[in-house]
Amino acid sequence: LAPTAALAASPQRPAAPAMTALTSASAFPADFVFGVAAASAQIEGAAFEDGKGESVWDRFARIPGKVHNGDTLDVACDHYHRFDEDFALMASLGIKTYRLSIAWPRIYPNGDGELNPKGLDFYRRVFASMKKHGITPWVTLFHWDLPQALEDRGGWTSRVTVDAFARYADTVVKAFAGDVKHWITLNEIVCFTLLGYGTGTKAPGRKENARTVNQTYHHALLCHGHGVRAVRAFGGKGAQVGLTDNCSVAVPVTEKPADIAAAKTWFIDRNAQVLGAIHAGRYTDNFLKRVGADAPDVKPGDFDLISLPTDFLGLNIYSGTFVRAGKNGATYEALPHPAAYPRADSHWLRLVPQSLYWGPRFCHEVYGHKAIHITENGCGYDDEPVVNGEVLDLHRRDYVRSYLREAQRAIADGVPVKSYFLWSFIDNYEWEDGYQRRFGIVHCDFKTQVRTPKLSARYYSDVIKERRIL
Ligand code: NOJ
Repeated sequence: LAPTAALAASPQRPAAPAMTALTSASAFPADFVFGVAAASAQIEGAAFEDGKGESVWDRFARIPGKVHNGDTLDVACDHYHRFDEDFALMASLGIKTYRLSIAWPRIYPNGDGELNPKGLDFYRRVFASMKKHGITPWVTLFHWDLPQALEDRGGWTSRVTVDAFARYADTVVKAFAGDVKHWITLNEIVCFTLLGYGTGTKAPGRKENARTVNQTYHHALLCHGHGVRAVRAFGGKGAQVGLTDNCSVAVPVTEKPADIAAAKTWFIDRNAQVLGAIHAGRYTDNFLKRVGADAPDVKPGDFDLISLPTDFLGLNIYSGTFVRAGKNGATYEALPHPAAYPRADSHWLRLVPQSLYWGPRFCHEVYGHKAIHITENGCGYDDEPVVNGEVLDLHRRDYVRSYLREAQRAIADGVPVKSYFLWSFIDNYEWEDGYQRRFGIVHCDFKTQVRTPKLSARYYSDVIKERRIL
């Protein structure tokens, strides 16, 4: 018998039974938003073109030993000159929502001095091109590219930066109120405060004491407040605003009540400085007890601004910490990941899909957020090069699929997860890891600037089209 005939139904081999429904087949809610995300400094390039000022990352990248391979942001994905083709590619993949950020040093090259009209023009062209391609922008006001001129005046340690941000936010929201309805004030406060001024692993690379670092957090919170104020004042009808935070996500080791309660308490403790303070409208007693004499200076009225009501909470979630009920009277025990625990090539990125369930769930339960947007989720790998027009990044496809399933589980359990933005549309400048660590669903050849959608882009495109996990 020919092999195919052998497989056909016969008295000896009955036809296969009809397939039962796939458990993953349930659709996302009709208004659920699927998007992709990126940030100005990481993709635009044109670092010194059309009047753009130097950013702290432009400076930091030039300090030997700070960034992998000494990579700079000078060219990146050259998106500054190729945005129209990038949006055409996005549209061809069925991606209709894109989270981008505005480069502060393009708008105010010195932070707070003269306005650079060419900076505003660039984003006008960007929004026009997105409109042409049927893509809706979600805009982050600050994604780490602080003007170096402000750093020279103290950066995040100084209230000068707060006043400058207020002016910058007013300018940008006024200019683009007609184009943008979803505004994100700041991206991941911990990364430009603690990591920029405490550990010094990110720009500007300073190593200050705990009190100074706590002050940088406080100034960031004030800027968040100014972002909300600016959108309320100038955003126009229907404008929505929120913070994007990368809260520390606790994942209970088992989903038994004692471990869940322990994880929740750990979550509250760990997120007291940003989400806890915004929610409470003050620094909580627990937080103040923990920091003691290192508490930041707070001026009267600061928290009126910081705790202005928002429309949503943005969460960047990549990973999580396993927590279980504590022993001998301890409330909880957070467990380190053992060396063998799976991770992406980004060393910090342990693969914990359940973080996309517990992160939104705890934010909803603890702070009462009514709309939660996953403003980033993705994975960094040293992907293989393009072969025969393809990058078979099954690892990324698997990552996205397993995390999406947990987002869907959260929705099913009543957590208001309203959107998912995959980080990132295209391989880009992964900060201190340079260009080696790739997060894109589209491959970027940094020498030729050729773009090639990876397998994960095709996969995500199908998910968006069918609105269910495939
Ligand atoms: C966090 C940041 O918002 C983004 O800039 C970064 O590239 C990704 N996550 C991956 O690390």
